[in-house]
Amino acid sequence: MAKEYPLPLCIVGCGGYAKIVLDDIHDMTDVVQLYFASRSPDKAKKYNADYGGSGYFASYEEAAEDPRIKAMYFFTPHDVHVENVKLAAQHGKHILLEKPIGRTISEGKEIIKSARDANVKLMIAENFRFLPLIQKSKELISQGAIGELRMIRTQHEGYDSGAVGEWRSDIERNGGGRFIDGGIHYVDMLIYLAGVPEKIYAVTESPKVIPNHEGEDGIMAILNLPENVTGLVHYSGGTPIQEHHNWVQITGTTGSIGFDPQDSKLTLFKIDSKTEIEVGQSWRGVRGMIKEFQNCITHNRESSMSGHEGLVDLSVVLAAYRSVQDGNAVKVPAP
Ligand SMILES: NC(=O)c1ccc[n+]([C@@H]2O[C@H](COP(=O)([O-])OP(=O)(O)OC[C@H]3O[C@@H](n4cnc5c(N)ncnc54)[C@H](OP(=O)(O)O)[C@@H]3O)[C@@H](O)[C@H]2O)c1
Repeated sequence: MAKEYPLPLCIVGCGGYAKIVLDDIHDMTDVVQLYFASRSPDKAKKYNADYGGSGYFASYEEAAEDPRIKAMYFFTPHDVHVENVKLAAQHGKHILLEKPIGRTISEGKEIIKSARDANVKLMIAENFRFLPLIQKSKELISQGAIGELRMIRTQHEGYDSGAVGEWRSDIERNGGGRFIDGGIHYVDMLIYLAGVPEKIYAVTESPKVIPNHEGEDGIMAILNLPENVTGLVHYSGGTPIQEHHNWVQITGTTGSIGFDPQDSKLTLFKIDSKTEIEVGQSWRGVRGMIKEFQNCITHNRESSMSGHEGLVDLSVVLAAYRSVQDGNAVKVPAP
């Protein structure tokens, strides 16, 4: 078996979410050796110092050209994902790309092709796949702990004033509003637990309350999942409350599982009992995600969150947008 070495990984784009992830992964020195690239040398230098990096670059191009770098993790706006991936692929670097894969199916396909043609690994950084509670729920469902699956209901409510910013509030640059940005995690969860929906019906929250934000504040969607399972996703960035309310309820014929996805425990409900199951700290799922990325490179295999998986998530999000526009349920096309 191949011996695993820390992967020389360059963090590209020293912005808000990179910081959140780095707080959780910077000590994984047996898995990754971190470098940093920013369009601003001062930012790259600061992130490198703050997170114990091995070096920094004053541009993305410089990082891509450096032979020490084996992989690049892009934390960049959605409208630059295509050019970011092309740059890394041209220089033979493996790619971890923040969700969504792109803004359109054709962008997603172009990204997958760039990585495939260059023979480098492409993984979409969909951290929900790696949340311990979601993995535990999948295990419980497959063990029959709640009988036959009937319904998955997810709720995210908060006031996403942070969604306002130079690119996020621009519908073109973001590719939509809150659903393509945050709702996509819950779509991915439904797909991971129950399969790809055949149809979706979606409505947006109205009237809009997030100021200066072109895209939708939130979406309520009903999904026809395989085997007649119903999915319900409510992703709201326009609920005027201080903290986020997140909840997932997975219901079967003999029981139900309930949890907040970022928590460390779930509750298994039966008609006559209620059991709490501890699964350990979630780390937002990012520690498991980084291990998976390093492991798929070391063992030269496709990642469990491949470009294709990212494209499927995107196709459901875009079908939700079409449903909003048409006012009807729409089929989810295979991408
Ligand atoms: N998985 C999750 O839970 C989660 C949560 C939040 C965000 N995300 C994803 O992470 C990515 C980045 O989001 P973020 O919240 O970190 O955004 P952000 O705070 O705005 O940071 C984005 C960074 O991208 C770089 N960048 C490159 N080209 C740019 C351009 N043309 N305009 C502006 N910035 C540019 C900048 O870094 P430099 O100046 O250093 O080059 C900037 O700081 C997105 O794909 C987003 O969907 C994921």
